[in-house]
Amino acid sequence: MTVTATETGLAARMRTGSQAEHNDAESSVFMNALLKGEVNETGYAEYLVALRPVYEALEKVGRELADHPVVGALIDAGLERLSAIDVDLEHWAPAGAPTFESKAVANYVARVNATLDDPVLYVAHHYTRYLGDLSGGQAIGKLLGRAFDIDDKSGLSLYEFPAIDKPKPFKDGYRLRLDELDVSEEDRARIVEEVRVAFSLNSAVFAELGRNMDRYQR
Ligand code: HEM
Repeated sequence: MTVTATETGLAARMRTGSQAEHNDAESSVFMNALLKGEVNETGYAEYLVALRPVYEALEKVGRELADHPVVGALIDAGLERLSAIDVDLEHWAPAGAPTFESKAVANYVARVNATLDDPVLYVAHHYTRYLGDLSGGQAIGKLLGRAFDIDDKSGLSLYEFPAIDKPKPFKDGYRLRLDELDVSEEDRARIVEEVRVAFSLNSAVFAELGRNMDRYQR
């Protein structure tokens, strides 16, 4: 019998508990334009530059928590995105990565770093970005490839997970690991709340990017 995540387990609660925030992130001006192929190379490069410090923090904290009795179960070097972002930036900004001064990015990074003092909350940040990259991210990668006529996946490494055979079974396993985390009910509720925070932190970054649409319009 295959064991799967349950409808009432932590994984399901994280998904349903953040549905409204997921919808908000999805329908932001910047994301909408990105999905319609209306964001140019500069805009996409700045999006990567904005995400870069977030992944840097996620991966640094993740390594520090790799042996943590709860969080350790989720850490997987095959998910790391930092070097993929650097490879992609060479494609989208060959003359050098742009700068993107951002209060929203600084807030997001600070929140991820703060989980070092409250490691169960790291689970929420790990889930929000990495499961997102393996879910909607896959569709975003395909849309970008089509919009920019990329047939060799060049510039789209963010959506490629060479260490993961297929996203679906990986995500099923990940959800099962979430359900099996040895955390109290109180911590489960705190993790669900932190997922909502993580989505809002993403939306704040997208809102900043959205204010530059005059420069990004394609
Ligand atoms: C335009 C943007 C987006 C689209 C079209 C999109 C679409 C989707 C879709 C269709 C799924 C379900 C996939 C499945 O069942 O396997 C999904 C799941 C998910 N997305 Fe998004 N998404 C977008 C943006 C985001 C953003 C910005 C984040 C977070 C930063 C995010 C995080 C997630 C997460 C964590 C899941 C997994 C939900 C779960 O099964 O627990 N998504 N997304």
